[in-house]
Amino acid sequence: MYAQLVKSEASAEDPIRLAEFQARIDRGEKIEPKDWMPAGYRKTLIRQIGQHAHSEIVGQLPEGNWITRAPTLERKANLLAKVQDEAGHGLYLYCAAETLGVSRDELFEMLHNGKMKYSSIFNYPTLTWADMGAVGWLVDGAAIMNQVPLQRTSYGPYARAMVRICKEESFHQRQGYHLLLHMMKGSEAQQRMCQDALNRMWFPALMMFGPSDKDSVHSAQSMAWKIKMNTNDELRQKFVDETVRQAEFLGLQIPDDALRWNESTGHYDFSEPDWDEFHDVISGNGPCNHERLEARKSAWNDGAWVREARMAHAMKNSERRLAAAE
Ligand code: 3HC
Repeated sequence: MYAQLVKSEASAEDPIRLAEFQARIDRGEKIEPKDWMPAGYRKTLIRQIGQHAHSEIVGQLPEGNWITRAPTLERKANLLAKVQDEAGHGLYLYCAAETLGVSRDELFEMLHNGKMKYSSIFNYPTLTWADMGAVGWLVDGAAIMNQVPLQRTSYGPYARAMVRICKEESFHQRQGYHLLLHMMKGSEAQQRMCQDALNRMWFPALMMFGPSDKDSVHSAQSMAWKIKMNTNDELRQKFVDETVRQAEFLGLQIPDDALRWNESTGHYDFSEPDWDEFHDVISGNGPCNHERLEARKSAWNDGAWVREARMAHAMKNSERRLAAAE
């Protein structure tokens, strides 16, 4: 359905219309679903919002796995609430993508057949309880860094969805940091567990911001359209600058020998992530890619009866309404 839409728009694009569209973006106007938009703008938004939605849904898996093993009732309630929030974020984002003319079934199909990605970070395992802290602190922390500017993105439904999502992500980040603060006051074994979680998660968290600017395919056009408000490297740097001090407060060591404050730039210098590993993970060969995708596919297949029952119910209702009207 949406492939046809994009095709018909592409043929209708003339330079004057494109210039008027760009002028609206430059004036800071929001683009709404019924407004004319270039095919590339629609396509890029569907890709980015769709991938974002998939990330929220797949992102439930590494943490959902720990709900039954939370050490206290309070931690369990927090984690449960967080994982439920991620499901909600996925739903807001699928709704925002649907306003662009793509159906939810099409989006799921593209996730299941590998045509659409989800965030690389969720292809890493969560091995200990301290990972729940590190995920909240680093993964949700990186997500917030990327998503706060997206509240000002040019597409109205996406920008509005981000407002609520960011509020909730902020709670997620704090619950993770609080968990680590608590564990760092515990035994030496608990402290080692926290350091180990940071050692494993640090570079994958840096990869969440995407490839370095020189290798980013979409950044230039997405920034011109205000679909992205900052480059990948700008946000990665901002994340490092804020997180180093948080690690110091926790008493944890960032696993990077090259990390040091640079007086002349006013930022931390740090090592680049291993980009070969990043490309491996986003092309389906990370440690948990297979497991994550299988979990999503079986959830989709197991839920078929619910979708079918709801369709049958809706059809019966509309038949009843038609019969009553006659
Ligand atoms: N994981 C997977 N794929 C990634 C990636 C990552 N961390 N970073 C980049 N890529 C992919 C891109 O999708 C693109 O592939 P494609 O052409 O097949 O779609 C390719 O690598 C080139 O990267 P670009 O820099 O050119 O891509 P973008 O301009 O789209 O930038 C992005 C990537 C910064 C992730 C951008 O898409 C973005 O800001 N997205 C919105 C935020 C988002 O999706 N966040 C997910 C985080 S997890 C989350 O929010 C869950 C929460 O609960 C923690």
